[in-house]
Amino acid sequence: MSARKERVLSGIQPTMDSFHIGNWFGALTQWVSLQQTHDCFYCVVDLHALTVNHDPTKIKARTLASFAQLLAIGIDTSKSTVFVQSHLAEHSQLAWVLSCITGYGEASRMTQFKDKSQKEGADRSTVGLFTYPILQAADILLYQPTKVPVGDDQRQHLELTRDLAQRFNSTYGETFTIPDTMTVVGNSRVLDLQDPTSKMSKSSPVGAVFLMDTNEQIVKKIKSAVTDSDRAVSFDPATKPGIANLIGLLAAATDTQIEATADQVTGKGYGEFKQQVADALVARIEPVRNATESLLKDPAHLQEQIKTGAEKAREVASQTVATAYSRLGLLTEPS
Ligand code: TYM
Repeated sequence: MSARKERVLSGIQPTMDSFHIGNWFGALTQWVSLQQTHDCFYCVVDLHALTVNHDPTKIKARTLASFAQLLAIGIDTSKSTVFVQSHLAEHSQLAWVLSCITGYGEASRMTQFKDKSQKEGADRSTVGLFTYPILQAADILLYQPTKVPVGDDQRQHLELTRDLAQRFNSTYGETFTIPDTMTVVGNSRVLDLQDPTSKMSKSSPVGAVFLMDTNEQIVKKIKSAVTDSDRAVSFDPATKPGIANLIGLLAAATDTQIEATADQVTGKGYGEFKQQVADALVARIEPVRNATESLLKDPAHLQEQIKTGAEKAREVASQTVATAYSRLGLLTEPS
């Protein structure tokens, strides 16, 4: 009998019509490759999207589009369990349990909350935004994964997840697997094209290339990417973050190591180099955009896969909630 594969879980928010290449090259490439070796659970985290102002007329379509984009980049529902978070009440159930063992001070130290709440203003920041990392911990611990493939910005949330799992286990008895964070080499923090001191994010439409951008938009964004006053390309992330970021993107788009890509482009003029990056991105993104569009033309087929995903996920998640409730000593519903 073959040994059971190790479990992986990760999630992505359906906050926009399209993922960007920070999501793709910084996190989702690992989701795709792990399918060969691991038992993978991937989740479109629509409940997390409610923590910032969301548009009720758009979230349904965005959740479907997110699901389709995952399939288009190579997530295979015959190998992996792909599902929508809100379809499983277990996520909210475990989140409540975990919130009861999270310190208020501990939650207050999460830097993503501090950044986002500063932007939103204290009065407009919700309790949901504050407890976001606890729901994320529930997403993870429900499935008992050993690894969580994410971008670098998720490290602190993963540390909290590990702390909560250890705390629950030592207080109430062994219940949760303690998961490790897994990041890609080189591109775990893809930078904004207009401000290469910040990470690429969906809130910066000109600084991010989206998977659903047209070829013309992709070329325009790369050509107007902020670099520096040198003329020739060299790889130095500390003093030339804009150029180093573009080298990272070229490496990811062509499936090449960053060092080899850097050797290949060192000494080129910026104009020629940017054209090469833009061409490589167009060649990589265009098929994904086309595949997403054709998947979205058959929503019934997508819905079928979403239903199967929820059923498979529930088999694992319901077990974990039952175990956690029993460890907590809650009275089981009389049959
Ligand atoms: P989200 O939707 O904001 O991002 C999805 C993934 O993309 C990564 N990422 C990046 N990686 C490198 N460079 C960037 N510029 C960049 N921008 C985004 C993120 O690190 C993430 O891996 N909190 C999660 C969603 C979540 C989750 C989970 C993740 C909810 N539950 C359980 C893992 C496990 C988030 O920020 O997603």
